[in-house]
Formats: sequence, C-alpha cells, structure tokens
Amino acid sequence: KQTETPVDDRLLAVCALLEKEIPYYNWVGFYFKNGDKNELKLGPYVGEPTDHTIIPFGKGICGQVAISNQNFVVPDVSAQDNYIACSITVKAEIVVPIFVNSQNIGQIDIDSNTADPFTDMDERFLEFVCKKVATIL
Ligand code: SME
Repeated sequence: KQTETPVDDRLLAVCALLEKEIPYYNWVGFYFKNGDKNELKLGPYVGEPTDHTIIPFGKGICGQVAISNQNFVVPDVSAQDNYIACSITVKAEIVVPIFVNSQNIGQIDIDSNTADPFTDMDERFLEFVCKKVATIL
C-alpha cells in the first residue's frame, strides 16, 4: 500500500518551491477558512513567522479576498489602509483565492520585499497553482 504524503507537508513543499524559485516571492503561505467561523487560519508557510495566525473576514488584504472571491494585487502595501503588516521589509503582496466546489475555502498569500513586482503572469500562474492545490484538499 502506498503511503500518501500528508496534505500539510505537500502544501509546505509548494510554499518552499515558490519561495526558492521566484526571487521576489519572499513569504509564501496558505490561509484557510477556519471551520464555519468567519475567519481565516494560517496554514503551511515559508518565511518569517507571523503573529497573524487568525484573520477575521474583511480584515487586511487576506480578509478582503475571503469576501470578494477575487485576486488582490497590491503593488505598494503602504498605499493600503486595510492592510495587516507582518514585516516592515514587505513592499508588495498578492493574494489569490482557492475554490473547491465553487466555494472560496482559502487562499495563497505572497509577500514581496520588491516594490510592484507582480504582473498578470503571476496571477495566471498562481491561479493555476491554486487549482492544483484544490485537487489535494
Ligand atoms: N498582509 C496580510 C496579512 C498576512 S501577512 O502578509 C503574512 C493582510 O493584509 O491580510
């Protein structure tokens, strides 16, 4: 019988690969809807530890994506008023939702220490990653 790698280990491997291969992806992590609560819970991630392990829906970039069901690209985090700072080195952020059975069940969150680094290619690529991730959840 084949032993399957646990989901969290596989998600962590995705984070590690993205952080390693893409120079401007400096913090890569997953947030998931926390049971039936209106909040996100931090999942596997690579990068500096964050205090923000629980994020209420609506709060910060992540909390807004939990409600909007849409990608959120932030070229300059200092220009956002509804933003949760995790590290002073972060200049930009991208959050892409993960859908399972058309439900927004979580997201991939990437912080960059480079200003305005994200293009349409990042969005298309991360949508692809999120679709793949959805199949193992
Ligand atoms: N900046 C995010 C919070 C999560 S940290 O980036 C890891 C936000 O505003 O929702």
